Amino acid sequence: MAFDDGFVDFRSDTVTRPTGEMRRAMAEAVVGDDVFRNDPTVNRLQEEAAAVLGFEAALFVPSGVMANQLSVMAQTRPGDEVICDPLAHVRNIERGASSAFSGIAYRPVGSEAGFISAAHIDGVMELAGRFQPRVRLVCWENSHNFSGGRVVPVEVMREGFAAADAHQLSKHVDGARIFNAAVALGVEAAELVAGADTVSFCFSKGLGAPVGSAVVGAADMIEEIRYLRARMGGGMRQVGILAAAASIALRDRERLAEDHELARYLASELADRQVDLVDPESVETNIVNIRAAAIARPWPQLADDFESAGIGVYPPFDARFRVVTHRDVDRADVDRLVDIVTRT
Ligand SMILES: Cc1ncc(COP(=O)(O)O)c(C=O)c1O
Repeated sequence: MAFDDGFVDFRSDTVTRPTGEMRRAMAEAVVGDDVFRNDPTVNRLQEEAAAVLGFEAALFVPSGVMANQLSVMAQTRPGDEVICDPLAHVRNIERGASSAFSGIAYRPVGSEAGFISAAHIDGVMELAGRFQPRVRLVCWENSHNFSGGRVVPVEVMREGFAAADAHQLSKHVDGARIFNAAVALGVEAAELVAGADTVSFCFSKGLGAPVGSAVVGAADMIEEIRYLRARMGGGMRQVGILAAAASIALRDRERLAEDHELARYLASELADRQVDLVDPESVETNIVNIRAAAIARPWPQLADDFESAGIGVYPPFDARFRVVTHRDVDRADVDRLVDIVTRT
């Protein structure tokens, strides 16, 4: 199910385009000035987001990066350290924002699939003392993008939260794809993040809204984050236009199961043709990592084939191709991708 222009885009779930229903809701949205808190559509969305994740309050922000960075900023002081996993988006992919804006350093621990255990946190805190930087915050990511959309189970999250509490550390969850994780685990997202201080999530990835993310937390935390959002120039005005689409995206979150099913189909088709291309067991949500070294042809040749077929795939990164399924691709598109990848 290519886009209207025929392009089939596997680069990310961020490429999804708003549905007809979203576009109509955007056109008809009742709006006001959200910096004055007068946009009823934004206010409604924020109430819905807080309720779905089991928190007191929520704030609509322009992007997942801003949601993460405001959460870090609100819970640290310059010179602090923040614990995260080695491949965390907040540390690796956000253009050094936490160093630039919050003046913090990251302390990577845990597994490459985003598991941060009590032992990892205790290990860092054992070394903390009078001479080391103060450790103030732990950031989890769930689902975990760069491990291939792996999911961190409820018990692992709870164990980590308890360890953070024992050391009086704040807890942030980068839940850009928290609903992918919840759907894959068959639990409510609220259960997965219960006990966190802040959770960020995106309306604009697999959920399909054109723009927007949210941060949820206690009311006073969200007040602080609202203040910081204004400082960073993130206050938006008649933004109910975007919130209207985000609300539909949030309502339809269970649809993500279809993207996961398609990712499993992709992995099993690849593995059936060539067993070393992918580990189907590792495909838990909508991301499939394909081993670059197992592909017979080099990237420039593959890139030409993808381009002439009108298929978008990112070049390999760290020895793998990350392919993402979403609402705007289907089985026929996956079959075409598999044909190109397995050509000799
Ligand atoms: C785990 C994770 N966190 C945060 C972000 C940032 O979201 P955005 O691109 O909306 O700023 C992404 C984007 O891909 C992500 O994968």
